[in-house]
Amino acid sequence: MASSTQGQVITCKAAVAYEPNKPMVIEDVQVAPPQAGEVRIKILFTALCHTDHYTWSGKKPDGTELLIPRVSFLAFLAMKLLELLKVSVKESLKCSLVIMSFLVTKRNAENASFARAERPTSVVKFVLLQYNYIGLGAVWNTAKVEAGSIVAVFGLGTVGLAVAEGAKSAGASRIIGIDIDSKKFDVAKNFGVTEFVNPKDHDKPIQQVIVDLTDGGVDYSFECIGNVSVMRAALECCHKGWGTSVIVGVAASGQEISTRPFQLVTGRVWKGTAFGGFKSRTQVPWLVEKYMNKEIKVDEYITHTMTLAEINKAFDLLHEGGCLRCVLTAHE
Ligand code: APR
Repeated sequence: MASSTQGQVITCKAAVAYEPNKPMVIEDVQVAPPQAGEVRIKILFTALCHTDHYTWSGKKPDGTELLIPRVSFLAFLAMKLLELLKVSVKESLKCSLVIMSFLVTKRNAENASFARAERPTSVVKFVLLQYNYIGLGAVWNTAKVEAGSIVAVFGLGTVGLAVAEGAKSAGASRIIGIDIDSKKFDVAKNFGVTEFVNPKDHDKPIQQVIVDLTDGGVDYSFECIGNVSVMRAALECCHKGWGTSVIVGVAASGQEISTRPFQLVTGRVWKGTAFGGFKSRTQVPWLVEKYMNKEIKVDEYITHTMTLAEINKAFDLLHEGGCLRCVLTAHE
């Protein structure tokens, strides 16, 4: 579809991070017309977070696709968007196109993800879905939680809540939410958390608190913070013999995990998950269908909507813990 800006340099508003841990600055940026093999579309998504640095691809020995290349996920989102906008594109999309969607997905500025939504919220939700499916997949694909299991979720941010949602749908009998911020507890009930523990209320190590609470430990635990001490606690609160702990949170670069080997020799299992173990081409569309059919939550994670000009306020809210996801719109 030809547009009035075809072949021209266009001016867009952008939130620019000049330095880490400093407020972002709203500026006009010039975007060159697309080059050979590129397409310019009015709205595209990006998530400027740590995951942007990763590309996941590869095949298992039997030839099946292993994991999602991030770029293909973005391309999928873009194709969905183009469908919605009734634009037909025959070539594959490059993801380094005009970035016009921002969406807050993280609390700290180092890993912050933003997407600016110019218009259709339904499109924004596709971006949100990407973050939720990490939590859902950790439960369904990586841990394979069975009905009746006792589950502990460390960290009740959006990722932890998606884990709780996945555990509830898998039929877990108890879902114990652990967070140092008690404000998270009320909201977490809506995602399936059945009981709460704030480590600050206890003198004992949190793993001991959970072991006592569950008469020997949980069947599955999920670390959804990115804190290596909590990763250890999450492993050690698992039941000996079979308890499985999944690392979902992303620790700061260079950090290491540790535990006594005895913890593993006595039958606990320590695992990690990448993008929830979903296969991109087949399963992301399947997840979108599940969302469309209201089988998984997405809207419920959006607690705030603000304008791009308020981007720094949005970061503050995320830091304070009162906000799960904040959608930034172009409208004043
Ligand atoms: N013990 C318990 N809870 C904690 C602790 C701790 N030591 N430290 C932080 N928390 C809680 C916070 O209070 C917050 O509610 O963990 C939660 C983390 O939530 P968010 O910061 O909103 O993070 P989220 O977007 O859910 O991502 C979690 O997953 O994808 C990764 O990079 C992401 O590592 C991050 C993690």
